Amino acid sequence: MRSANMSGKPVCISDFEDYAKKFLPKSVYDYYRSGADDQETLADNVAAFARWKLYPRVLRDVSVMDLSTSVLGQKISMPICVGATAMQRMAHADGELATAKACQAMGTGMMLSSWATSSIEEVAEAAPDSLRWLQLYVYKDREVTKSLVRRAERAGYKGIFVTVDTPFLGRRIDDVRNKFQLPPHLRLKNFTSNSLAFSSGKDFGENSGLAVYVSEAIDSSVKWEDIKWLRGLTSLPIVTKGILRADDAKEAVKLGVNGILVSNHGARQLDGVPATIDVLPEIVEAVEGKVEVFLDGGVRKGTDILKALALGAKAVFIGRPLVWGLVYQGEEGAKEVLQMLKEEFHLAMALTGCRSVEEISRTLIRRHDVLFSKI
Ligand SMILES: Cc1cc2nc3c(=O)[nH]c(=O)nc-3n(C[C@H](O)[C@H](O)[C@H](O)COP(=O)(O)O)c2cc1C
Repeated sequence: MRSANMSGKPVCISDFEDYAKKFLPKSVYDYYRSGADDQETLADNVAAFARWKLYPRVLRDVSVMDLSTSVLGQKISMPICVGATAMQRMAHADGELATAKACQAMGTGMMLSSWATSSIEEVAEAAPDSLRWLQLYVYKDREVTKSLVRRAERAGYKGIFVTVDTPFLGRRIDDVRNKFQLPPHLRLKNFTSNSLAFSSGKDFGENSGLAVYVSEAIDSSVKWEDIKWLRGLTSLPIVTKGILRADDAKEAVKLGVNGILVSNHGARQLDGVPATIDVLPEIVEAVEGKVEVFLDGGVRKGTDILKALALGAKAVFIGRPLVWGLVYQGEEGAKEVLQMLKEEFHLAMALTGCRSVEEISRTLIRRHDVLFSKI
């Protein structure tokens, strides 16, 4: 574990979190940080990366490097993208607009949450040259769902990441204790009605307000048929976000999705599931190169990114680190987080002898606990 030291400038991602913990109201920090239940998977998402060891190649002239790659046909400067995290205006007044501007400046992509505190259109306007995708929740009211997709198409978003692991919200104990809801000056800006906008003032009883919101608005009957429906609805690339099994990955490919995001929702849904890096290899194998595979969960440093790519991910997405950057300094802080990860990844590539992302291969990595248990 890295120790954080916030007396000076942040030098690692945990420094940003340290700052956010001191700065944010407790219920907001808890919402951003928490995992589900006992948070076993939350810890494992990070810890699992350490079980995979790198086997560097040496003497390969790494004086000139190229970190660029592409996601769903769109060029990006590095395989590090920003995942959907809801309600970013609790982190900084500029919220999602700051994130989009930071991504635009860094030449990478941003996935906007359905539950953003800035609208699809506002984000597009703030950073017109940014690469944006929409994260989609399937609402009980399919017209609401459809209209989110149409608005994303019109506003120049380049893909839909449909979240498939949330028929109900995972049980996040701190949010239940805090009876979490949005502060009164904020709402989910993609919706007009107060109930869909998760406006405060409603009595959510002894529960997380968000858990109540999900049970009222999000469709728990969502099924594979709905992926088919979505495929027929839009010609934008579709990625299923929240796949952890090879058979589910194969099913998604059969239905015509363009990508799989291996994700356990930052350990916020079902506790006790494996770390994403541990299931990545079997998903990559299952899809047989037919679609792009991405990973999120616990990515905190450059070597994590290199490990994910060595195991077959096309790119990684970050959740919490970006939020901590926003808290630290809005757009500048978000940029700093992305720049830090970029520099760390650059170093990890150089020290493993990779001059381009194409040179990051499976031979660079082995899982050590398996190795030792065989001896
Ligand atoms: C505060 C927070 C809010 C999130 N909101 C959403 C969301 O609205 N939609 C979604 O599909 N995933 C959401 N996620 C999950 C992230 O997209 C992503 O899977 C996860 O954060 C990656 O793990 P990491 O935080 O360890 O990087 C959220 C995660 C966090 C931490």
